[in-house]
Order: sequence, then C-alpha cells, then structure tokens
Amino acid sequence: MTSTPAGSITVTMEGSNKSTTLPLLGGTLGPKVADIRKLYGELGIFTFDPGYGATASCESTITYIDGDEGVLLYRGYPIEQLAEKSHFLEVCHLLLNGDLPNAAQYEEFHKGVTYHTMLHEQLRRFFEGFRRDAHPMAVMCGVVGALAAFYHDNLDINDPRAREIAAFRLIAKVPTIAAMAYKYSLGQPFVYPRNDLSYAENFLYMLNAVPAEPYVSNPILARAMDRILILHADHEQNASTSTVRLAGSTGANPFACIAAGIAALWGPAHGGANEAVLKMLAEIGSPENIPHFISEVKDKNSHTKLMGFGHRVYKNFDPRAKIMKETCHEVLAELGIKNEPLLDMAMEMERIALSDDYFISRKLYPNVDFYSGIVQRAIGIPVPLFTAIFALARTVGWIAQLNEMIGDPEYKIGRPRQLFVGAAPRNVVPLAKRG
Ligand code: ACO
Repeated sequence: MTSTPAGSITVTMEGSNKSTTLPLLGGTLGPKVADIRKLYGELGIFTFDPGYGATASCESTITYIDGDEGVLLYRGYPIEQLAEKSHFLEVCHLLLNGDLPNAAQYEEFHKGVTYHTMLHEQLRRFFEGFRRDAHPMAVMCGVVGALAAFYHDNLDINDPRAREIAAFRLIAKVPTIAAMAYKYSLGQPFVYPRNDLSYAENFLYMLNAVPAEPYVSNPILARAMDRILILHADHEQNASTSTVRLAGSTGANPFACIAAGIAALWGPAHGGANEAVLKMLAEIGSPENIPHFISEVKDKNSHTKLMGFGHRVYKNFDPRAKIMKETCHEVLAELGIKNEPLLDMAMEMERIALSDDYFISRKLYPNVDFYSGIVQRAIGIPVPLFTAIFALARTVGWIAQLNEMIGDPEYKIGRPRQLFVGAAPRNVVPLAKRG
C-alpha cells in the first residue's frame, strides 16, 4: 500500500457498548478513505453501498477524476493537454508504464504494438460464424475472448513479460477486430493493417479502404479519431474497468478479462450511450420537438433519459465533452459541413437542458458521449460501431488497471458481501404435499 495514514474514525454501535476505531487513509488527491477491513471482525457488521458510490475498491496511480471541478488526469497529466499535445500511442505508454515516452521509448513501444497488428489467419473464420447483421460489440466480445485460444504463450498473468506481450497484442489487434467486424457486416473483403500509418490512420484505413480504389487518408479526420481514442482511454474505476479487475482477480487470462470489460461497456448506461444519443436525436427528429422530449425526460413515469447527459462522478462538467465539442466543430469545418442538423439539435438540446431546473438541480451536464457520436458520424463511422470504438480506446486503460491490480501484493479475489433479505431457513415439502 502506498497511501498514507490520515487519522482515524470511531464507529460506535448504537444500543451496545461496542465500538471500533478505523484508520483513515490519504492519497495524493481526493477525499480520505476509511479502511473498513476490520469492521466485520470487530463489530460483526458489513457496509452497504449498492452501486459503490461511496466505496474505493482499490488503490490506483493511473487516473484521477475530480467530478466537482471537472478535472481528469492520466498519471497526473490533464486530459486537455494530452488531447492537444500527444498521440494515442504516447498515451498508451503513459497509462501502461507511468510516464510519457521519450523518443527512443516511443519508437520501441510503437514497434512493440505494430508488430502485432495482424490477426491469426484462422481467426478470420470466426467472423463467418456470425450473422452479417450481428452487433459489432457481440463480435468483439466473442473474438477478443477467442484470442486466448490462440496465444497460449502469454496467458500466465503472474509473468510480467507475458503480460507485456498480451498488452501489445490486445492494443494492436482490437482495431483490426473492430474493422473486420464492420467489413463483415458490409460483405466487403477484410483489409489487412498497414504499419506505416499511425494507429488512428490505420484504423480508418482498415474501415474505409477497398481493393478497387486507392485510399487517401485525411489527417484532420485521423487526428479527430486519435483524440476520441485519447479521451476514452481510461476513466478510473467505472463499471467496465471494475468488471475487468473483478474478472482478473480470479486469475483469468487478460483476453478473457478484456472480453468481460467489452461486455460491461456495451450497456446504454455506459459505453452504449454514444449510439443511444444518435438514436435519441433521430427519434426527436427536429428542434421544435425538443421541449416535448425534455418534458418527457422530466416525467419520472416515462423512464426516458436524456442520453449523453449525467455522470456518476462529474457533477460540474465532463472535460472530455468540451474537447469533443471543439473536435466536432473542427471536423465539420474540415468536411465543409455547414449545416449538420444533428449537431444543431444537440446544441439546442444542451442549451435548453442547461437552463432547466431539473438538470441544474441534479447537476446533469453533457458527458463525452453527447458529442462523440456526432463526431464519429461526421468522420463516416457507422453508428453501430461507436461502442466498439469506445472499447478499442478503453482496452489500454483496462490493461493498465488489470496489470496494476496484479502487481499489487495485497490483491485478492474480488468478492462483495450482501444484505440478505430472502426467505429464512425452511423445510422442503414433497411435491405432492405442496399447496
Ligand atoms: N436524464 C434524465 N435524468 C437523469 C439522467 C439523464 N440522463 N441522469 C440522471 N438523471 C436523474 C435521475 O433520474 C435521478 O433523478 P432523481 O434524483 O429525481 O431520482 C438523478 O438524476 C440522479 O441520477 P442517478 O441515476 O442517481 O445517477 P447515477 O450516478 O446513478 O447515473 C448515469 C449516472 C448512469 C450516467 C446516468 O446519468 C445516465 O443514465 N445517463 C444517461 C446515459 C449516459 O449518457 N451514459 C454515459 C455515461 S458516461 C460514460 O460511460 C462514458
């Protein structure tokens, strides 16, 4: 443990004379944490925190979020600076190794990733087992998990070199898998990766190139894609990252753990939100329908949510949303799109929501997904692929978090407790005698 002692807290059980003193731990930034590990042993009680809103599940040195101030740091670097001054593979090095690479380290890291961009030829056959209209996230879950069947040499999570190779393989192959899932859905031939292109350029190339025509890459669009990847690369202990850690805590191999992360990310409350935003905007249809939609969102009985709004941690603004909005304008200007009805609607929706007491009082602001879908659509990414691109970007964060957990000498299998409210012990009555 690298946290520091920061006082203590005494818990007294009302109605009994039992009490215990729990240590408080301090990190570099953020609130103090009460170490409750001896609470059950001393007082015989568990803590109750469904949704884990008040529970720190681990020590981490990777990502820090100050939700009240709208701050996001990767290894101490503000997301705004990383998005402006670095490229995705530099950020991958940062998340995995703790610092931005120098030129020599970058070259070596780049070589390490690009060496692994191709898929085993036999993996191509997996795609043919899916329906053409399969959701790319279904394909991603299956094919990424299947990597474990091909790379037996790096399944030992306790071997740091095996973990390093697994990391390279995953970061390199996930874009190839996402692009192949797309090509398969179109019935077009798979496009093999090109290692002379940047990570983002290569991904766009594998998505868009066809053998019949020369492919010309657009640096502005490649930069926008690179920025999307940087903004989504890690986000501390969110649902999918916690899933990866929990799966990894059992000793499962890295490919299985990342497949578990992809499954958790798929849901519309998490990574699926970018796709849901576009669906929502298309359903609203035009700006004059926004007030009616907003009133529906405010009606608790409707169960309608303003997708792309709200966040468990950000209660001021999501700094990624700001960068994504700027990128959105850059991309539309580059493409000469003056009127993008979806962007106009999104901005109008944002304006109305941010002046409405329902959203103000609940501190609901646009999150990264509110604008990322519009940028991706402008770049030419098909809507069903949005969440797969989020998974592609987040793969490095998941691996960094997994490796951090495995390297922690105190880590043990993740196993929450429960507050049981079901039936008390009772006897089984034979079938014929049950009423
Ligand atoms: N639209 C309308 N109301 C909302 C929204 C929303 N998008 N988000 C939260 N609320 C309301 C809740 O109904 C609740 O109201 P109440 O106090 O009257 O009951 C209040 O705001 C607090 O919301 P919670 O659900 O408690 O917030 P929680 O932290 O559990 O949920 C979440 C966060 C899941 C992101 C939620 O805001 C949401 O579903 N947003 C839409 C989906 C989305 O955009 N997800 C992407 C998240 S970012 C990411 O994964 C990259």
